[in-house]
Amino acid sequence: MGDLARYWNLDPEIDFLNHGSFGACPRPVLEAQSELRARMERQPVQFLARELEGLFDDARAALAQFVDADPEDLAFVPNATSGVNTVIRSLEPQPGDELLTTDHAYNACRNALRWHERRGVKVVVAAVPWPIAGPGQVIDAVLGAVTPRTRLALLDHVTSPTGLVFPVEEMVRRLDERGIDTIVDGAHAPGMLPLSVRRIGAAYFTGNCHKWLCAPKGAAFLHVRRDRQDRIRPLVISHGANSPRTDRPRFRLEFDWTGTDDPTPFLCVPHALRFLGSLLSGGWAELMGRNHALAVSGRKHLCDALRVPPPAPEQMIGSLASIPLPDAKGDPPGPTSGVVLWHPLQRALLEKHRIEGPVMLFPAWPRQLIRISAQAYNSEDQFARLAAALRTELQLA
Ligand SMILES: Cc1ncc(COP(=O)(O)O)c(C=O)c1O
Repeated sequence: MGDLARYWNLDPEIDFLNHGSFGACPRPVLEAQSELRARMERQPVQFLARELEGLFDDARAALAQFVDADPEDLAFVPNATSGVNTVIRSLEPQPGDELLTTDHAYNACRNALRWHERRGVKVVVAAVPWPIAGPGQVIDAVLGAVTPRTRLALLDHVTSPTGLVFPVEEMVRRLDERGIDTIVDGAHAPGMLPLSVRRIGAAYFTGNCHKWLCAPKGAAFLHVRRDRQDRIRPLVISHGANSPRTDRPRFRLEFDWTGTDDPTPFLCVPHALRFLGSLLSGGWAELMGRNHALAVSGRKHLCDALRVPPPAPEQMIGSLASIPLPDAKGDPPGPTSGVVLWHPLQRALLEKHRIEGPVMLFPAWPRQLIRISAQAYNSEDQFARLAAALRTELQLA
């Protein structure tokens, strides 16, 4: 592990190369969360009924500045899956309408689109090449799947199985020109990439704070463009629906209270922003650049070991990188996509080599991939160890 690992509670016996799945929260942020929880439990009514609204405003302001958005257009949601579901379940597509996504989309969120199939809505899945030569291939694949019935597109900012940075700004603009709204699933974007939600301009953008921002688990946001806010309701209808208050918009009142819950993950977002931003003298920009450089060099270790060319140009990856596994050639393409939580190779890596790194399934050939994550606590020697372990397990030595 790298020097900065001292701030995390990660098991020092394990090379943890899977920040991407669930994030990992550093100790100073967890300590801030404990203090907030202690304050809440000392006087729950004071905290939840009287102070929370102002605390949410402060946390939202810090987040808005970081992701370049107007705080008025941000709502806290517990995770990106909820953010995507909030939008999809608020909309009422008609039979025959088409909802567009790609075969790199996160399985859970594609399932959310499919929920509308029961009323005769069609989910169209554009095939984006993998390996891929450049962002133009993503744009061609997505625009090539648009028809006059396309109503909404769900596009990932950073794809889960393949770790690709999609050119979302251009895709949103080109879809917008055709009258199609986009939900950007930016689960991995905040803290991995310099982000301007405003410039991307999507009708809907959701992002996690518990992944690359390292907030406690259960912190994410949904940004809804002002002109779409009257269509979007939270997954849970609560007091805000008939509140007589006029000092705040309905969007704010509805999303800020969806029943009693622990709000401390959201309230820790400013702490996480400050702490991660203080790790290196160059702040967040240096951290993101360092993580990207580490993902690139880690990917090179793996590509050399597996004797495969890099499957995507460097500018299409952030701090996640996927590499096709050579033993996938015989596998037929299949519909499944997503993390395989206990793949035999993943199990061997953990049990024999003490390395945590996900083996993913992708619907088209090459079907099996290994995905690496590079976060502040990682170091290059960990990726060299993974490369050596893969050569042993795949009998490439
Ligand atoms: C692209 C994408 N969307 C959504 C998610 C789901 O995130 P969460 O479990 O925080 O909802 C992930 C998780 O890895 C993801 O990669």
